[in-house]
Amino acid sequence: MLTLGIESSCDDTAIAILDDDDIVVSLRSGQDDIHTLFGGVVPELASREHLRAIQPLFDAALKQARYTLDDIELIAATQGPGLVGSLLVGFSYAKALACVKNIPLVGVDHIAGHLLSVFLQKEKRPPAFPYLSLLVSGGNTALYLVKSFTEFECLGRTRDDAAGEAFDKVAKLLGLPYPGGPEVAKLAERGSKDAFFFPRSWLDNSLDFSFSGLKTAVRNQVNQLEQKKDVLPSLPMEDICASFQEAVIEVLSKKTIQAAKQHHIKDIAIGGGVSANSALRQRLADCCTREGCQFYAPQPQFCTDNAAMIAFAGKMQYQQQGGCASTLVTDVFSRSALGQ
Ligand code: KG4
Repeated sequence: MLTLGIESSCDDTAIAILDDDDIVVSLRSGQDDIHTLFGGVVPELASREHLRAIQPLFDAALKQARYTLDDIELIAATQGPGLVGSLLVGFSYAKALACVKNIPLVGVDHIAGHLLSVFLQKEKRPPAFPYLSLLVSGGNTALYLVKSFTEFECLGRTRDDAAGEAFDKVAKLLGLPYPGGPEVAKLAERGSKDAFFFPRSWLDNSLDFSFSGLKTAVRNQVNQLEQKKDVLPSLPMEDICASFQEAVIEVLSKKTIQAAKQHHIKDIAIGGGVSANSALRQRLADCCTREGCQFYAPQPQFCTDNAAMIAFAGKMQYQQQGGCASTLVTDVFSRSALGQ
């Protein structure tokens, strides 16, 4: 089955074509250079950029795959959660294509896409159901039990900021460009993770997360250091980044292992933009080895927002629900009801 995937939930326009489970093409058009001026995504600018990007990206994807729209058998588009203006561009575009060519359309929950993105990894056998997935992105931080291609149970989630949001806010505080995660990670490689102690929020051993206190602690530390400007010629950026990153990684990895033990799960996966962080991947891989678990991580290009994961999740949803498609009046949603 040839599936066209469309993703536009935040600031990446992405189009992919899957031939059954094989990725024929996966293209992405980012907007980092626009949002970096503001230190974060500006929703109205994001929707306008999607409008500009989507048609050329669609043309390029078909050309690169050497297909025409007549070859496409299913369209899967992100329906939510995300920025409504951004979602509407991709989802309405998908509806128009589906309507003109009478192709079935499925609306996909973006979170399901991330949770299933480990299936795009061809080099390794996929995890067995039920597996545990740590979803860490700019908009979400949560632990899910993935019971099948269409059944997800949320075991815990952030009560305030997402981990990626904390990375982006700390980066902004330090004057680094958006998105801040990769910039902080790069500086952290040259710093000492023990230079500063930043608080970890354990929340009485619940599987929920909280990162807003950590972000405030980094801000307080930076303020203190800036008051010593006569002593310190410049901020110890590398050490701040490494110590902050360590606080995030320690909480994410310990709570993931705690969840796996509580639910007797041996296969552990990761997904979302922050899962591209190599220190986090390494820590989780080490913890899994120590606990006798298997660790699964998508290739870095499929950690951040992409349309291949949406095409895959949409195809599985369509096949498992007996070909049940969305209608032209189906609306987008800003909040996910997945696994509630
Ligand atoms: O999944 P994603 O592309 O978009 C959302 O759905 O949110 O995730 C983007 C987030 C941003 O906050 C970005 O700073 C973070 O992922 N990110 C990273 C890294 N690469 C991307 N955070 C830490 N380390 C990285 N290497």
